Amino acid sequence: MNVLIIGATFGIGYELAKKYLNTCDNLILLGRTQSKLEEIKQEFSSGKAKVFTESLDVTILDDCKNKLSNIIKINSTIDKVIYCSGYYEPHDTFEIDVSLFQKTMDVNFMGMINVFSILLPHLKNQNHGQLGIVASLAGFGGLPNSSSYGPSKAAMMNYVESIKIDCDKYNIKVSIINPGFVQSRLTEKNTFDMPFLMTSEKAANIIYEGLQKEKYEITFPLPMMILFKSLRILPRSIYFWVVKIITKS
Ligand SMILES: NC(=O)c1ccc[n+]([C@@H]2O[C@H](COP(=O)([O-])OP(=O)(O)OC[C@H]3O[C@@H](n4cnc5c(N)ncnc54)[C@H](OP(=O)(O)O)[C@@H]3O)[C@@H](O)[C@H]2O)c1
Repeated sequence: MNVLIIGATFGIGYELAKKYLNTCDNLILLGRTQSKLEEIKQEFSSGKAKVFTESLDVTILDDCKNKLSNIIKINSTIDKVIYCSGYYEPHDTFEIDVSLFQKTMDVNFMGMINVFSILLPHLKNQNHGQLGIVASLAGFGGLPNSSSYGPSKAAMMNYVESIKIDCDKYNIKVSIINPGFVQSRLTEKNTFDMPFLMTSEKAANIIYEGLQKEKYEITFPLPMMILFKSLRILPRSIYFWVVKIITKS
């Protein structure tokens, strides 16, 4: 089995890579940070899988085209693709830095489209595969501090729903992954209390198990999933009242 993780240099993607190290044949790990990729290659050298690392910026379409086409040429079959690249920066509602919104959409949403523009046709041709896309609970509804990040994750969730039925026709399993708060570089930026904060390792375990079971939706932790799903169906007046209380806004 050949596994490709995009955004594998840090946090959840890195911990997921560890999970696949002894359970797959070829493990292809991508991210921008060259020094970290070299470290990982060294660290993972005693695992069962043959590890291939490459620096990739998902926001640059030509970089995606060249590097992913080459990866496909070398490996021919890609069984599992996990899109874990992500960007988040908290910001003030009234001071809109347009470039921050642009970057968030570029990494989270357009980055995914850039890599899928190469990978999806290949999965279709091979008539099998699995896609795991890491979105977020923040995609379920608008939240304070999340007016750039939340919409990018909502777009990912909608996109994944849009491709699911067509992917089924070609035996491509699709999973949308919506974590709550996970310790990583992204959440280090938060100054507010993060309920049910978990380690990247624990999040990777849950994602790994969910992908093994080929679940369409991997949303966790359970109390946050119940809360966010309930909030979704509430009248907006009650929604804003509850969100104001739980986020202390
Ligand atoms: N932490 C949380 O609480 C939480 C909650 C819900 C969802 N998520 C999502 O989980 C995913 C992983 O995030 P994380 O928390 O593990 O954060 P992280 O430690 O910062 O990891 C983000 C990963 O994305 C990669 N990345 C960023 N920009 C990229 C680019 N332009 N091209 C290619 N790769 C890029 C980073 O690698 P390089 O910097 O080396 O490129 C890194 O490997 C993200 O999609 C995030 O939105 C996180």
